[in-house]
Amino acid sequence: MLAALSNLISVTFRNFSAKLAACTNHRQSLLTVSLLPSMIHASRLTKTYGDPVSGVKAIDGLNLKIESGQRVALLGRSGSGKTTLLNILAGLDRPTSGELIAAGKSLFELSPAEIAHYRMTCVGVVFQSFQLIAHRTAMQNVELPLILAGMNAANRKQRVNECLERVGIDHRRTHTPTQMSGGEQQRVAIARAITAKPPLLLADEPTGNLDSQTADKVTQLILDVVAENNSTLVLITHDRELADTCATRTIHMQDGRLISDEVNVEARS
Ligand SMILES: Nc1ncnc2c1ncn2[C@@H]1O[C@H](COP(=O)(O)OP(=O)(O)O)[C@@H](O)[C@H]1O
Ligand SMILES: [Mg+2]
Repeated sequence: MLAALSNLISVTFRNFSAKLAACTNHRQSLLTVSLLPSMIHASRLTKTYGDPVSGVKAIDGLNLKIESGQRVALLGRSGSGKTTLLNILAGLDRPTSGELIAAGKSLFELSPAEIAHYRMTCVGVVFQSFQLIAHRTAMQNVELPLILAGMNAANRKQRVNECLERVGIDHRRTHTPTQMSGGEQQRVAIARAITAKPPLLLADEPTGNLDSQTADKVTQLILDVVAENNSTLVLITHDRELADTCATRTIHMQDGRLISDEVNVEARS
């Protein structure tokens, strides 16, 4: 029993190390793995839009730790700060104050080029409105992050094919977004998000624009790719049932703060 447990811990730790090594330089990853096994560690995070005194406090002194491999559902009413938090975790937006360590990196101490590298190698983001480039084909949309990452043409082609096949949208590879259904567009967006097998996948109401049957399939696809890549998932949703069935942890936000944080023992694997 003890040996099995020790083996499990060692495998989990090795998986985490591999992910972290992929997105940090070697020396840094060895150091951070030994000191900090969390995927996300946010401390006293604030984000105020507009005037520092009279502006909107979207995030208000938020503390949050997410361990590697957790699947976190983030719930809360409209305007509670969920998207703002997700954008900060993605490195797409900066907090007004506070600290954020993500995948072993103190994110807002990094240079713009280093943050861009974090976004390319450590994070995949899936949006409610897909955010595909309108005049580009499915293939070209998925290829874009690989071009930005400097991958050569032959490797890009292979990875794009793998990702399109993985999400079951290979037959729409030359279609532009307007020539695809919502579910198909979201599959392309998921393919784009997983090109780097990111250790952190962030999804902002990814099924909000889909009918319920398509939503179920897209949700299952997200869970499958998260499992395959050993990713940590943060999923914003309005759907309490979805949170209970898919997430290992459910967090509620209100007025830019966390108001509850529960472990889901019955989450499906
Ligand atoms: N770019 C912005 N400029 C000003 N206020 C914003 C901006 N983005 C969001 N907000 C405000 O910040 C608060 C949190 O928004 P948001 O993070 O989008 O919440 P949620 O995703 O939970 O609906 C809201 O009051 C919203 O109006
Ligand atoms: Mg939102």
